[in-house]
Amino acid sequence: MAIAGELDRADAARKAEPRKFKPVDMPDLEYTPGLAKEMAPLYEKVRNVIPSVEWPFFAPYIHAINKLKKERGAVLLAHNYQTPEIFHCVADFRGDSLQLAKEAGKVDADVIVQCGVHFMAETSKILNPQKTVLIPDSRAGCSLAESITAEDVRLLRQRYPGVPVVTYVNTSAEVKAESDICCTSSNALKVVESFGTDRVLCIPDEFLAKNIAKQTKVKVIAWKGRCEVHERFTPEELRQYRKDDPNIVIIAHPECPPEVVAEADFSGSTSGMISWVKENKPARVVMVTECSMSDNVAVENPDVEFVRPCNLCPHMKRISLKNILDCLVHMREEVTVDPVIGARARLAVERMINLGN
Ligand code: 13P
Ligand code: SF4
Repeated sequence: MAIAGELDRADAARKAEPRKFKPVDMPDLEYTPGLAKEMAPLYEKVRNVIPSVEWPFFAPYIHAINKLKKERGAVLLAHNYQTPEIFHCVADFRGDSLQLAKEAGKVDADVIVQCGVHFMAETSKILNPQKTVLIPDSRAGCSLAESITAEDVRLLRQRYPGVPVVTYVNTSAEVKAESDICCTSSNALKVVESFGTDRVLCIPDEFLAKNIAKQTKVKVIAWKGRCEVHERFTPEELRQYRKDDPNIVIIAHPECPPEVVAEADFSGSTSGMISWVKENKPARVVMVTECSMSDNVAVENPDVEFVRPCNLCPHMKRISLKNILDCLVHMREEVTVDPVIGARARLAVERMINLGN
């Protein structure tokens, strides 16, 4: 593994030098008859999930964002938990954490606007140190990312010498920099087994680690972090859904407690869940995950009925059309990562991406 000292700090800092952008005037946000006509085909696509009374408020923002992002040479990456007016109407790329990380490494644009939480924007910056990475609200955090520090990882290494450290992407750049490799919910099992060791540290999500441990002979050592959204689901709740409708299909994210995942018919990453619905076309399904996912998936699956438990991620919901527009007008808030930390974190993220190739 490369160490910080191997990198020429001045060279890395020069390469990461941000471009300077001037603010532009705030566009006119009036919902005129002309705009209504122009935006009508887009509304047709989302009418099942966006009430018509809300569209006149969203449409001028969507129009302005789509125009300005071209002028700024920006691409918008949106996580599957973003609300439908963002996910379907302004995003250029959508996906789970792994897909967004891969896309961030491929984008051919000077500016990346991350519609998601801060660790996702940091991952984009880690993979694109020379690009300007913006997040519409830098307070969009994550309870998992908050649960562990770089110092905690160093202490874990002392306690478990020689045991590989697999770190969920829902962590800060500093934590990634202390790790051997990253993982997401879609590749965690593969990553854990990639070392061929009998023990692996899988941090910081306790439930993801326990769910992986059930599928492998590798002894998985967990940390005590939890997703504040997924930890709220209970097995009783899922059993009640089945009692109410014995034909219902239940799919759950692996950040849920193992007892919850055990009650589900399928468990996978956010994109894994979306693909499962597209392929299996269940008549009624409950997606045991963040609330906006069902709305986003419903747009492309009009024949599937979604039972929607509404557990919102307050961090994801900090991103709105209003602050996306503001972000493009003022080119803020810029996400920065110390170049040396970024280079070490990048190794961990790239090892994960290369494992998939
Ligand atoms: P995915 O990688 O499955 O999109 O999960 C990210 C996340 O934050 C889920 O809470
Ligand atoms: Fe973090 Fe949970 Fe929100 Fe995902 S849903 S960003 S894991 S707090």
